[in-house]
Amino acid sequence: MTSRAFARPVGTVTRGTTNPNRLRRMDRWIAHTHGAELRRAADPVAVDLGYGAAPWTAVELLGRLRSVAPRVRVVGVEIEPARVLGAKPYEREGLVFRHGGFEIPVAERPLLVRAANVLRQYEEGEVGGVWERLCARLAPADPVGGARGGLLVEGTCDEIGRRHVWVALGPEGPRTVTFAARLGSLERPSDLAERLPKALIHRNVPGEAVHAFLRDFDRAWAAAAPYASYGARQRWIRAVRALAVDWPVVDGPGRWRQGEVTVRWEALAPSA
Ligand SMILES: C[S@@+](CC[C@H](N)C(=O)[O-])C[C@H]1O[C@@H](n2cnc3c(N)ncnc32)[C@H](O)[C@@H]1O
Repeated sequence: MTSRAFARPVGTVTRGTTNPNRLRRMDRWIAHTHGAELRRAADPVAVDLGYGAAPWTAVELLGRLRSVAPRVRVVGVEIEPARVLGAKPYEREGLVFRHGGFEIPVAERPLLVRAANVLRQYEEGEVGGVWERLCARLAPADPVGGARGGLLVEGTCDEIGRRHVWVALGPEGPRTVTFAARLGSLERPSDLAERLPKALIHRNVPGEAVHAFLRDFDRAWAAAAPYASYGARQRWIRAVRALAVDWPVVDGPGRWRQGEVTVRWEALAPSA
């Protein structure tokens, strides 16, 4: 524990709503995308920031990350002290809980900070400052050794994790936006708009890039309707393939099959 732990935590206590298995889509994407970085580190630390009224998401994050990076340790950080006390009995080898906020009260520079359903309850104008603060705490990149550094994954989902949108940021700033869904739960891709992270949710209006993206995604989805007879997954894959002609999609069919698509942040970033 560092002296940071004794300072007043940075941030605000908010509702603690959580659910078991709610963040499985995010966990799996992190394991896939960031597993190699976590594996190469001697002592990789991952932070579940704002784990909520129960410690389930932190326990699950440990299990899913350990399946790709057996040395990883998870620190659950929560700003509401009673939620930290309530989580303590769930500590185990590789998992501890700490009282704290955006300052992140751990000695190491984490290789992962996951903040799910935390910033939605803050003001849009606060997001940039919080991102900067959290990115500054990430493990730095090492261009010589080829390491890309730590990853901040910040996003939102519904109560049971069927619809999810998150932004991934490196030490240098935002990299990508990922849309992930249980495809059977979607009528059209723009159903995901209600789960956009705070930085984007108020920008789903004409003239903003994220609005144009979801409009084009809905059109591609409508054009792929004949594939619905092969299942929603085939329809999604066709729609994303068409979307990728005009939008910088960075992943491929292996991820699309999971009901995901990841796009470069610059293409969806809000206007000033
Ligand atoms: C809605 S819950 C999300 C729980 C869990 N991450 C999930 O997605 O199921 C948000 C939690 O974030 C906590 N929180 C809000 N701001 C925080 C901050 N600056 N640092 C740490 N925790 C914070 C709140 O106290 C609350 O328990």
